[in-house]
Amino acid sequence: MVAPENLDLVVQVRILTGQYIMANFRSIILAAGKGTRMKSDVPKVLHPICGRPMIEYVLDITRRLSSLKTYVVTGHGAEKVKGAISSDGVEFVLQPRLLGTADAVRRVEGRLKSFRGTLLILCGDTPLLSKDTVRSLLAKHRQSKASATVLTALVDNPQGYGRIVRDRAGSLVAIREQKDASVKESLANEINVGVYCFESYRLFEALKKVRLNTKKKEFYLTDCIELLLAAGHRVKTLISDDAQVALGVNSRGDLAQAEAVIRKRILDKHMQNGVTIVDPITTYIETDVKIGADTIIYPCTVIHSNVRIGTRCKIGPFAHIRSGSRIGNTVEIGNFTEVSRTTMGAGTLMKHFSFLGDAVVGAKTNIGAGVVTANFDGVTKHKTKIDRGAFIGSDAILVAPVTIGSKALVGAGVVVTKHTKVPAGALVRGVPAKIFKK
Ligand code: UD1
Ligand code: MG
Repeated sequence: MVAPENLDLVVQVRILTGQYIMANFRSIILAAGKGTRMKSDVPKVLHPICGRPMIEYVLDITRRLSSLKTYVVTGHGAEKVKGAISSDGVEFVLQPRLLGTADAVRRVEGRLKSFRGTLLILCGDTPLLSKDTVRSLLAKHRQSKASATVLTALVDNPQGYGRIVRDRAGSLVAIREQKDASVKESLANEINVGVYCFESYRLFEALKKVRLNTKKKEFYLTDCIELLLAAGHRVKTLISDDAQVALGVNSRGDLAQAEAVIRKRILDKHMQNGVTIVDPITTYIETDVKIGADTIIYPCTVIHSNVRIGTRCKIGPFAHIRSGSRIGNTVEIGNFTEVSRTTMGAGTLMKHFSFLGDAVVGAKTNIGAGVVTANFDGVTKHKTKIDRGAFIGSDAILVAPVTIGSKALVGAGVVVTKHTKVPAGALVRGVPAKIFKK
């Protein structure tokens, strides 16, 4: 917390470091499109990438750059989009008819009547975009005092993207959509990433003049660039130094490409934090997973989001750890295993062919080969509690709800029926199980 007498100083420091410049802007994320090329009932921006809707990666950027407000334009599947993304700092704006990207931005005009600053516009289908690239775009826009600044990228295959058209001197002339580009224009390998900074009043002036594109029956936001230039306003470009950030996800192939890049970023981060990943090519770890140092992840392992794993664990090969699981230090989860919404205490071993669902397992417990918690009765999921130091023999089935006391021993092949409470230290044998007190 900054004391009021120091506020001036903070503002000065922010101006010097560029932070203040970054803070004074609002954002629009275009997310109303149908995503026709995905051939899906799910709105395009909700397709998950490493366990998160793709639009969340774009929202991360506006949040991290402290956008004063982010307007998300929804249309196709609006209610689904609203319900699926975190609404923190977000205002949803409905685009009732999908009339193109220019029309989508027009829907926000009413909310920006008194705003005279910079508008950052992004597309909800560019999940590889980086915060640093957008920060550079904002900085260039402010420094050049342009009316608009467009992020571009030089790509090997410009197929499907809007092309950047420049004159002989290299100055920007227009953004031409593929369908409207001449042969010469379509040969350009500089493309429009779909990220722009605009001075808001200039943008809304230009939007009034955008005409319907007769080929696509849409109003193109990209037409504003030519209109601003024709009116004598300054429009700048920033060429991204990383072409990867430009990927717009329009098809299932693009989705797989984005997934591969984000998956690699996630794995690299875990390795930098001291986790051994024996075979990154066959390891799938979603976002929001924390793994302690010196844990080893063996091949063909899948770890979903919202999982925590301690230090010095051994996971896999062929392990599947699902959301909500909490794994303590030095736990071993071996081959052909699944752990779901389960907590496992430090030093617990579960080395072969087992399933733990909705279970709380204490420390130093042994889960034998083939042990199964039968947590679902066809209607409801039930909990299993296995206390510290218990030993569950091979092929035992624990029909939840069930409690196994500390240091109890459940024999091989035992079926512990539901509502059983095995006391601490007891021996359990037979089918159905019989409890032998110590
Ligand atoms: C758009 C750009 C193109 C750029 C590319 C980058 C236009 C006209 N073209 O093409 O220059 O190279 O992105 O990826 O802007 N949307 C709405 N309402 C609509 C239509 C679209 O909100 O009526 C949203 C979509 O949900 C999407 C974004 O706008 O998030 C872009 O639309 P999309 O159809 O993917 O445009 P592209 O063909 O990729
Ligand atoms: Mg697109």
